[in-house]
Amino acid sequence: MKAFIVDQYKKKGALRLGEMPEPVLRDDDVLIEIHAAGLNLLDSKIRNGEFKLILPYRPPFILGHDVAGTVVRVGANVRQFKPGDEIYARPRDGRVGTFAEFIAINEADVALKPENLSMEEAASIPLVGLTAWQVLVEKAKLTNGQKVLIHAGSGGVGTFAIQLAKHLSATVATTTSAANVELVRGLGADVVIDYKKEDFEKILSGYDVVLNSLDGDTLQKSVSVLKPGGKLISISGPPDVTFATEQGLNWFLRQVLRFLSFGVRRKAKRHRVSYSFLFMRASGEQLSKIRALIEVGDIRPVMDRVFPFEATNEALSYIETGRSKGKVVVKIRQAGRRA
Ligand SMILES: NC(=O)c1ccc[n+]([C@@H]2O[C@H](COP(=O)([O-])OP(=O)(O)OC[C@H]3O[C@@H](n4cnc5c(N)ncnc54)[C@H](OP(=O)(O)O)[C@@H]3O)[C@@H](O)[C@H]2O)c1
Repeated sequence: MKAFIVDQYKKKGALRLGEMPEPVLRDDDVLIEIHAAGLNLLDSKIRNGEFKLILPYRPPFILGHDVAGTVVRVGANVRQFKPGDEIYARPRDGRVGTFAEFIAINEADVALKPENLSMEEAASIPLVGLTAWQVLVEKAKLTNGQKVLIHAGSGGVGTFAIQLAKHLSATVATTTSAANVELVRGLGADVVIDYKKEDFEKILSGYDVVLNSLDGDTLQKSVSVLKPGGKLISISGPPDVTFATEQGLNWFLRQVLRFLSFGVRRKAKRHRVSYSFLFMRASGEQLSKIRALIEVGDIRPVMDRVFPFEATNEALSYIETGRSKGKVVVKIRQAGRRA
């Protein structure tokens, strides 16, 4: 099958379009014919070698974390899916590779695709949808009337997280630049801060939760926005010791992560707020819940661009500019014919 392959870890290195063997189907797997694949900065970071210690993929391997497609075959133990089902998924770490014509995925990571979305729209959802869900619902337990600051509201995670927080009846503040103010307001943001002109930490106070997806400086400033007992949750680092333990990292790496997160943990403690790092995980069950929210119209996909499969490298370069609005997707299978 055709696939975009990492031959060696390299910063900004181009992926090679080449032939790879079709995936081997395990008993708990579904084999998916891929129609569309969503792109994420995690793809770039893995290709750059930034995740080698945590996710040690051995080249040559296929990149890509988000998929929408059709089930073509199921393993002996699969009960939830049958050939012909239209699905979407974020395959678990260690088994990614959606920039290809086929992928085998454990059925626990898969959910039926929202009926009201195209394949391209559905492929834009899983990784960012699960991230927002795991931060706001699982970790923050955000409820009615609470206040949440979502940084970078116009990004992939931000556009989903704003809508999810509004579904949970929270008050939402977000940071973005002037060009995206209308976009984030349309998604439901109550307070919009133009980060190029205003300092969010001087405007906001008494918040229950901050979702940080930006740099260390923004993370530090976010502490003062929270009320005592508030929760600062970062998805862009620094990782903490709990994460290191969950990942089964060795003693040395645990100490490194303890050191990296020391500054923000100390500041958080002084302000009587909690700090945690979250790295999202695959979950078909949560994608089913997200599907329901999409089908009733509480959450809609925000699409920036759809690239043809052959232009996967250009699509990756585009998201690496850090300027995309919502999600970027590659279309792999044209309706009625293979790519
Ligand atoms: N830990 C996890 O599980 C996890 C999961 C998902 C993502 N992440 C990480 O989270 C980060 C964000 O991911 P993403 O996919 O949402 O990124 P993205 O879609 O590439 O974000 C692009 C957006 O960020 C906005 N932005 C850039 N700088 C900003 C600033 N200083 N203040 C406010 N907005 C700013 C841009 O808006 P303007 O053009 O207006 O600046 C743009 O619309 C990445 O580092 C990613 O790797 C981690």
